[in-house]
Amino acid sequence: MKQFKRTTVTSALPYANGPVHIGHLAGVYVPADIYVRYLRLKGEDVLFIGGSDEHGVPITIKARKEGVTPQDIVDRYHNIIKKSFEEFGISFDVYSRTTSAIHHQFASDFFRKLYDKGEFVEKTSEQYYDEEAGQFLADRYITGECPHCHAEGAYGDQCEKCGTSLSPLDLINPKSTITGSKPVLRKTKHWYLPLDKHEEWLRKWILEDHKEWKTNVYGQCKSWLDMGLQPRAVSRDLDWGIPVPVEGAEGKVLYVWFDAPIGYISNTKELLPDSWEKWWKDPETRLVHFIGKDNIVFHCIVFPAMLKAEGSYILPDNVPANEFLNLEGDKISTSRNWAVWLHEYLEDFPGKQDVLRYVLTANAPETKDNDFTWKDFQARNNNELVAVYGNFVNRALVLTQKYFGGKVPACGELTAYDRETLREFADVKADVERYLDVFRFRDAQKEAMNLARIGNKYLADTEPWKIAKTDMERVATILHLSLQIVANLAIAFEPFLPFSSEKLRTMLNMPGFRWNDLGKIDLLSAGHQLGTPALLFDKIDDSAVEAQVQKLLATKKANEIRSYKPSAVKADVTFDDFCKMDIRVATVLECTKVPKADKLLQFRLDDGMGGRTILSGIAQSYPHPEELVGMQVLYVANFPTRRLKGIDSEGMILSAEDADGRLVLVQPSRPVSNGVNVG
Ligand code: MF3
Ligand code: ZN
Repeated sequence: MKQFKRTTVTSALPYANGPVHIGHLAGVYVPADIYVRYLRLKGEDVLFIGGSDEHGVPITIKARKEGVTPQDIVDRYHNIIKKSFEEFGISFDVYSRTTSAIHHQFASDFFRKLYDKGEFVEKTSEQYYDEEAGQFLADRYITGECPHCHAEGAYGDQCEKCGTSLSPLDLINPKSTITGSKPVLRKTKHWYLPLDKHEEWLRKWILEDHKEWKTNVYGQCKSWLDMGLQPRAVSRDLDWGIPVPVEGAEGKVLYVWFDAPIGYISNTKELLPDSWEKWWKDPETRLVHFIGKDNIVFHCIVFPAMLKAEGSYILPDNVPANEFLNLEGDKISTSRNWAVWLHEYLEDFPGKQDVLRYVLTANAPETKDNDFTWKDFQARNNNELVAVYGNFVNRALVLTQKYFGGKVPACGELTAYDRETLREFADVKADVERYLDVFRFRDAQKEAMNLARIGNKYLADTEPWKIAKTDMERVATILHLSLQIVANLAIAFEPFLPFSSEKLRTMLNMPGFRWNDLGKIDLLSAGHQLGTPALLFDKIDDSAVEAQVQKLLATKKANEIRSYKPSAVKADVTFDDFCKMDIRVATVLECTKVPKADKLLQFRLDDGMGGRTILSGIAQSYPHPEELVGMQVLYVANFPTRRLKGIDSEGMILSAEDADGRLVLVQPSRPVSNGVNVG
């Protein structure tokens, strides 16, 4: 394997059009952070680059909707996102943004260099233009009927109903979402990166030289390459972004996917104005991109082609992309608010960053999509973090406090069982490393937890509290060894659970951690004074996770109401037609179930005209009909009398259907006299 001097680690720049959620954390930022912390602990030279992606159409759409500027939107979310990352210990060396002056200059120069080298092709094509707004329309600004499923409201790039990806020209009856007018086709010039010209070296570089890439990444690249690469436009007609630095390009900006990855480089330059180049141009630097699966083509094909075209940059050595994390069985969605937002998580579970990091790593979607559930969150906290790791550490520290005043006792003679335990423990470092080196974070964390299991079992088997009266020397040996395991755990878990390791470091009164100390059994010498023990983790009870589940259920409800598709409006009626309907107000005097009819309720109404009886088929929606007594309802008074189950029903009571299919009685918003006409 090639030896490198240093590693540049990037993690996808999140769009600054919303906060970050657990899917972002699980897919990209926690794995990247684990990896970087691991390399740092090993004493390697590593740089961890992050930042916000602040251009692109969705940001302009959000701004327009809220009546603010795109800059307002990205300012708001950049700060929220940056804070969330800090709170979860994502240890970027720099977290900047693509609206920075330095990035604008850098990306602009990058484009210009490729332009001057003749690396682009210019092409004029016809695109939709909104004459009323006086601008070209991005795909997302055009809606119309889907040519496949014929749903209304499909976007110019995709129909969200049937999932088909579209081009704006496919839409039936296209409409501009800015003015609602019908767009016209107009000629416009753009610059294209001719990926077809790069195909040959890309094929060799990925398919032959990088067979070690994760199979999901390699497979996606292969299918792109096998389909044949097409030139890609790197400019857009838009007024939000980095102006195309070429004469005759007024009103055009760099495509967001052109400028964003360059952000990795400009952010490095912002951090290290004088030495950034070695992190991007020295062949002895290893470049690793952490991303989600929807970013694979950009990081494995488009960005490398850009770097190659420029000529002076290194290419990524690996792109460990993850699949997606679902939430309670459904795809995470910002627009449907189906997510666990990081800032909200911390309000509900203050101080429990590591618990989320642990659960997200344990369930990381490394090879396939995976599911986050609150039940699993609770179980992993209670059964693993509390019952194994926390329990072991706490027992070792508290017993040392109790029997030895918090001083590490001396090690006596080892028994056969002690030696067996140490043998098991000796492999942990190699096991964790073996997995971390190939980006298998779930397995790596499992190995670290395995060390805690070894410790926990050791204490449970040796039961030092039982022999304290008779054999203090043996107790000393057991605790001496246990404390060494505790110190090892603090190191092994540092990349995964940095907050807990820091707590533990203080409790152990250790100066710092080095990865290479892992596996040693002399990390704490006899006589070393420990700090005060405190619980590392605590139990999460049913009510706390139940509250989260309820919150999601409420979201689901709200979404259903919002996504209800009203039926088509019926044919016109005249005013006279309407006046034929005699709708009135009445108060419920009695309401009972009709025997032997599971759908019918029998109402006795005060209609202001001596009273009437009406049967209504809403029994299943109102299991406690007596509760309706006293309520005012609306009914049609001139509906011919019908006999049902031997009872005369003199009219029809009005109701509407809710998101669960339940019928809901309609009532006046303030009391009115019974018998009053509605109209
Ligand atoms: N903003 C993109 C996303 O969230 C990722 C951009 S990664 C970069 O999907 F390389 F372009 F920075
Ligand atoms: Zn469709």
